Amino acid sequence: MTTASAPGKIILFGEHAVVYGRPALAVPVTQVHADVEIADRDASGIWIDAPDVNLHAELNTLPSDHPIAAVIHNLFFLSRVSPFPNLDIQISSTIPVAAGLGSGTAVTVALTRALSTHINYSMTDEQINAFTYEIEKLHHGTPSGIDNTVVTYARPVYFIKEQLIETFKVGEPFTIVIADTGISAPTKESVSDVRKLWEADKARWENVFDEVADISFAARHVIREGWIKMLGALMDENHAYLQQMTVSSPELDKLVMAARQAGALGAKMSGGGRGGNMIALVEKENAATVAEALISAGATRTIITQVS
Ligand code: MEV
Repeated sequence: MTTASAPGKIILFGEHAVVYGRPALAVPVTQVHADVEIADRDASGIWIDAPDVNLHAELNTLPSDHPIAAVIHNLFFLSRVSPFPNLDIQISSTIPVAAGLGSGTAVTVALTRALSTHINYSMTDEQINAFTYEIEKLHHGTPSGIDNTVVTYARPVYFIKEQLIETFKVGEPFTIVIADTGISAPTKESVSDVRKLWEADKARWENVFDEVADISFAARHVIREGWIKMLGALMDENHAYLQQMTVSSPELDKLVMAARQAGALGAKMSGGGRGGNMIALVEKENAATVAEALISAGATRTIITQVS
């Protein structure tokens, strides 16, 4: 049997602007993960069992653009495995789906890792990252590549599309409370809506993306130096730009306000938006209080994570 796992992720700064070549920062969230188990099967076929998404099917019965089928077909073609082996593939995940935490990306990375190991087709992290990016493109139009990068390397990244993948240094560990609105919102839609805004007024939005770029750049510096108290204001500012991009929502704004009122140093939505998760920067000793306030304000779940 072969197993592999990949973590969830959150974007700390720069979502959406990152699609337009601006820098963004993201970190893995190891408290949630996708796990894949692969075993040889006596009978013929490739059976996929993914109870979290209600899937129990043989590969050939899935449409070829199904996210899981696409990973298996493409990997087998890439590795030139012929005939396809007979396999039982078990996929499970604790990452909420369509919540901005990288659930689909983590399944792709874990499945690619498990499958390539199982068929003895060796892949470096760089190759897994590039392969996952191609799969992301099939499903989500114009991804920047930050999600596959942070999930594959499972390290904090400062990222500029097609230019830079840098593991940022954390001068002083800091604590983030992640809260789920419970509303599932596909990233593809919010990314495409931001594209419509940009197409209608490129000068305005290029300007906004430049402002967000300055925030991400400053955040990297502040994180490196360990000036954590200054990070909160940068999160608040970034959230205001995301509101302008129309990717926040009343539920996300409510949680952001609740976190600030409960003493968070700063808060913002995270990821594609319109639903999904928000994040709040907190003093470690205040994390539980902020998490409770978020639940009272309607969050369906919270995760407290340490960035170090
Ligand atoms: C989604 O996690 C981040 C976005 O910036 C999209 C992307 O970078 O591909 C919204």
